[in-house]
Amino acid sequence: MTADKKSNGASRRAFLKGAVAAGGAVAGAGMARAAGEPDPLITEVQEWASGFGEGVDATPYGLPIRFEDDVVRRNVEWLTADTISSINFTPIHALDGTITPQGCAFERHHSGAIELKKEDYRLMINGLVDKPLVFTYADLERFPRENHVYFCECAANTGMEWAGAQLNGAQFTHGMIHNMEYSGVPLRTLLEEAGLDAAGDLADKWIYVEGADASSNGRSIPMDKALDDVLVAFKANGEALRKEHGYPVRLVVPGWEGNMWVKWLRRVEVMDAPVQSREETSKYTDTLADGTSRKWTWEMDAKSVVTSPSPQSPITHGPGPLVITGLAWSGRGAITRVDVTTDGGKNWTQARLAKDGESKALSRFYLEIDWDGSEMLLQSRAHDETGYVQPTKAQLREVRGENSIYHNNCIQTWWVKESGEAENVEVS
Ligand code: MTE
Ligand code: CO
Repeated sequence: MTADKKSNGASRRAFLKGAVAAGGAVAGAGMARAAGEPDPLITEVQEWASGFGEGVDATPYGLPIRFEDDVVRRNVEWLTADTISSINFTPIHALDGTITPQGCAFERHHSGAIELKKEDYRLMINGLVDKPLVFTYADLERFPRENHVYFCECAANTGMEWAGAQLNGAQFTHGMIHNMEYSGVPLRTLLEEAGLDAAGDLADKWIYVEGADASSNGRSIPMDKALDDVLVAFKANGEALRKEHGYPVRLVVPGWEGNMWVKWLRRVEVMDAPVQSREETSKYTDTLADGTSRKWTWEMDAKSVVTSPSPQSPITHGPGPLVITGLAWSGRGAITRVDVTTDGGKNWTQARLAKDGESKALSRFYLEIDWDGSEMLLQSRAHDETGYVQPTKAQLREVRGENSIYHNNCIQTWWVKESGEAENVEVS
């Protein structure tokens, strides 16, 4: 291996206590046990076949079986001062497919997750509209609904990695993302209900959206996006939004940074200029090397990560068939291709997309290899339908410097060792 590896191992390992399953390769290259070897799990009558299981009344609303209790959201205690204004991370290293179950989808709150009943819910549309309106939850349910799958990525995802390899696990480096099927009413429908004639030329108009929680998390959105694909959503993956994701109603702003996806949505004001709120000036902007900041960086650039093998999902078998898998996404449209390298970027192989990329939604990729048991520098590289290619860390630093927190979409490297264990590193 000639590439240089850099890592900040010691500090990371300390906080990861317990988060990483005990890895280690098992001898033997086979994918299945040879027939004829005695195996008590095959030859003996098992306990679970000797009596009855639980009745159907045992679990009116099911949780994952207890053996899967490590597939949970995790937070990193030292990242934030308290859990009220904080973040936790989706266990992407342990999931497959693309849909994120709500129960383990990351949460980001600025003033905690509030409890708001449907009966107490109100959505006001005001400002430059023909007739200001207030909708109840029941009112919203009477408008024609749409269903769409979209990813929601916090702009701070991967934000700890700008200065060097930091957090040891895909959950922590890339887990501020979830991907759900939303059911809701297009915001366009509600704006048209209030009437936009009073707004005049819509080309230079904005909306300001805010939540009912103490932080209100207000954001300005240009009118053309508001009228394009923004959804006022009340269901995710078929069921009501969970409290932590904005029950009973949240805004879905496809492809744009998670901060704009206002939860507990209470107000949409039509305006002739952006508000320049805290969340779009001092926060969620990126300071460049010369001290100036990028403005209006709403769209999430194409990005990908290998979810397995990875530090929390080590290889637990010997050489031979190995499934490399991961996620790719773009705020500008569909993923068209993902490449994978096992040698730190010298040679790339096109991975297999589980299905055709869907616009502004996660894509799952697989690359099946015959692992020779030697160490690997694993990376993935996403391409989207605009022709954009995910940059290396060096390329990103060249244009963005190292002052940023947000919008880090660089290529991630896992150093997979002969033991099958993996570590977050940088290659140069
Ligand atoms: N909306 C309100 N009202 N309050 C908030 O704190 N956090 C924002 C956004 N919407 C927030 C909010 C941020 S920064 C992100 S990344 C997403 O919600 C996270 O959504 P989730 O908690 O459902 O994952
Ligand atoms: Co966020």
